[in-house]
Amino acid sequence: MCGIVGYIGNNDAKEILLRGLEKLEYRGYDSAGIAVISENGVQLFKEKGRIASLREVVDPNVECTCGIGHTRWATHGPPSKTNAHPHQSSSARFTLVHNGVIENYESLKREYLQGVQLVSETDTEIIVHLVELFMKEELSVEAAFRKTLSLLKGSYATALLDNEDSDRIYVGKNKSPLLVGLGDGVNVVASDALAMLQVTDRFVELMDEEIVIVTRDSVTIKTLDGIVIHREPYIAELDASDIEKGTYPHYMLKEIDEQPLVVRNIISKYQDDNGNVVLEEDIREAMKAADRIYIIAAGTSYHAGLVGKQLIEKLANKPVETHIASEFLYNMPLVSENPLFIFISQSGETADSRGVLVNVKKKGYKALTITNVPGSTLSREADYTLHTFAGPEIAVASTKAYTAQMAILALLAVDTAKNSGIEFDFDPIQELSIVATAMETLCDQKEAFEKIAREYLTVTRNCFFIGRSADYYVCLEGALKLKEISYIQAEGFAGGELKHGTIALIEEGTPVIALATHEHVNLSIRGNVKEVAARGAYPCIISMEGLHEESDRFVIPAVHEYLTPLVSVIPLQLIAYYAALHRGCDVDKPRNLAKSVTVE
Ligand code: G6P
Repeated sequence: MCGIVGYIGNNDAKEILLRGLEKLEYRGYDSAGIAVISENGVQLFKEKGRIASLREVVDPNVECTCGIGHTRWATHGPPSKTNAHPHQSSSARFTLVHNGVIENYESLKREYLQGVQLVSETDTEIIVHLVELFMKEELSVEAAFRKTLSLLKGSYATALLDNEDSDRIYVGKNKSPLLVGLGDGVNVVASDALAMLQVTDRFVELMDEEIVIVTRDSVTIKTLDGIVIHREPYIAELDASDIEKGTYPHYMLKEIDEQPLVVRNIISKYQDDNGNVVLEEDIREAMKAADRIYIIAAGTSYHAGLVGKQLIEKLANKPVETHIASEFLYNMPLVSENPLFIFISQSGETADSRGVLVNVKKKGYKALTITNVPGSTLSREADYTLHTFAGPEIAVASTKAYTAQMAILALLAVDTAKNSGIEFDFDPIQELSIVATAMETLCDQKEAFEKIAREYLTVTRNCFFIGRSADYYVCLEGALKLKEISYIQAEGFAGGELKHGTIALIEEGTPVIALATHEHVNLSIRGNVKEVAARGAYPCIISMEGLHEESDRFVIPAVHEYLTPLVSVIPLQLIAYYAALHRGCDVDKPRNLAKSVTVE
C-alpha cells in the first residue's frame, strides 16, 4: 500500500525512481508519480494506473540526479492523475509524496490554509502547503518541515523536494514505514529495502517522529525538535534474485512452488545438531509464563492464527484466543492476568495489528511477532520476534508466508509443551519433513487443479468451501484466496453451519469444495456434502490418503493430523490461481488490494 522512493546521487534519478517504484508495485497501488530536479527546476510526472503508463509520460530527455517517487493506493479521493502524488505547494517551490493518513487534515486546512486553493482531494496536499506557509515565518526549510510534521495527527512517511535546492531531500516518518539507504556519494529513501537494492543493501531504520535530511554524502536524522540522532545502519539480507520471477508467469505460482523449500528452510533454521527445536530462551520463558495467549492478525495471517490456536492448545495445553486485529481494540476481551500477545504478520507493517501492539505495550504486556520481515515495525516494537524465513513474498495473495507462519506456530507449540514438561507423541522436525515432501507432490500435480478450476469456476458467480475442525480454517483461507484474485464471491463455512442459513444460496450447479482431511469429522463433512448435493450443488471433495473414497476429486498425501492445513491449502491456492487465470484477472496485482496495509 503506497510506496515511496527517493534518490540523490550522480546517476539518472528518473530511471532509478521508476525501477524502485516497479519493485514496490507488489504492495498494491492505483496511480503513480515522480518528481525530479532538473536544470529547469522540478519536473513532475504523474499517471493513473500502472507504472508502465507512468513510464510512457516521463520525458526521457530530462537530466536529473535527485528526485522522489510514489505509488498511491487511494484513501482520500479516487484514483486519478490529479490525486496522484507528488503534490506541490502553490508557488511550486515544494513538492511532496506521502504514505499514510493525516487524520486532522480538515482542521489543519480550516485553521491554516483558508486562502489556499487546493488542487486535489487528498489529505496529503495540505502538508506541502503548510511547509510553504511556515516559510513565510522566516524559518529554514528544515524548520518549516519539522513544524509542519509536529502539527500532523495520524500516520505519515513523507519526502519533500525544494525547487531551490537540488542537493537535499527532506524525509519524515510517523507510524508508516520508511528507510534511508546509504551508498557511496549517493543516498536513497524507500518504503522497503526491496525498492532500492539496485543501489545499496545498507539501510538505516527511522523511528516515529523523526526527520532525515538526505544529501549525496550525508544522512542526518533528527527529532521533530531538531535534536540529532545517531543510528548504525544494517545490511538488508535480501537477495535481489529473490524478487525476480525467473521463468514463472506469476509471482504467485512461484511462491506456491517455493513452499516445500520454505518448510525445509524453517526446519534447518530452528533445529540444533541433535534434531531438537531451538527457540530463543526469552521466547520460551515468555510462553511458559503466560497464562493465556492472544493471537492478533489480519487477513491470511489471521487464518494462520486460527490454526495456531489449535496447535498451541492441543500440544502445549495453554488457552489461546485468536483475534482480528482491526476488531480487537473495540472489542477487547477481559485480558488474563499474565497474557502473552502474539502478532502474526507477513509484512510486519499492518497498521491494524500495530495499533493493537502499541496499546498492549502501553499496558505493559509482553509481545512476540511472527513475521517474514524481521526489521519491520511489528518486529522492532515487540519484545521478541520469530522469523518465518519465507523470502520476499511479492504476489498480493499470500501463500508461502501463510504456510511458513503455521510451521513456526507448530514449532512454538511443541517447544512450549516440552518446556512445560508436557508429554506428547509428535516429532515436529520429522513431521514437517513429511509435509515438505507432500507439498512437492501437490505442486507437481498442477494440471489436476487447473482442471478443477476450469470445470467448476470458469463461469460461476459464487463458490463455497466447507470443512470441519482445522479444515474449516483452511476453507476460510481457500475462499479468501479465490475472492482476492478471481473476484468470485467465495465463502468458507464450518460444515455444520451451512444449513443454518447459507444453504439457501445453493442452486443447481453451485460449486461446493469440501475438505476431508480429519478422521474424526470425515463422516460428518461427507454428510454435509450430501446435503448440498441433494439441493443441486456441484461438490468437489478433496480428501486425505487413508480417509478417501472413490468419488473424491483429489486425494492429498497423508501428513500428521496437526499439520494438515499446511498441505490441504495448496490445492486451494492452485485452484484460485487457475480460476483467476481462466477469468483473465491480474493474478499478482488484484484490483483494490494492497500487500502491505499501512493505514487503519
Ligand atoms: C493485506 C493482504 C493480505 C494479508 C493481510 C495481512 O490485506 O492483502 O494478503 O494477509 O494484509 O497482512 P500481514 O502483512 O499483516 O500478514
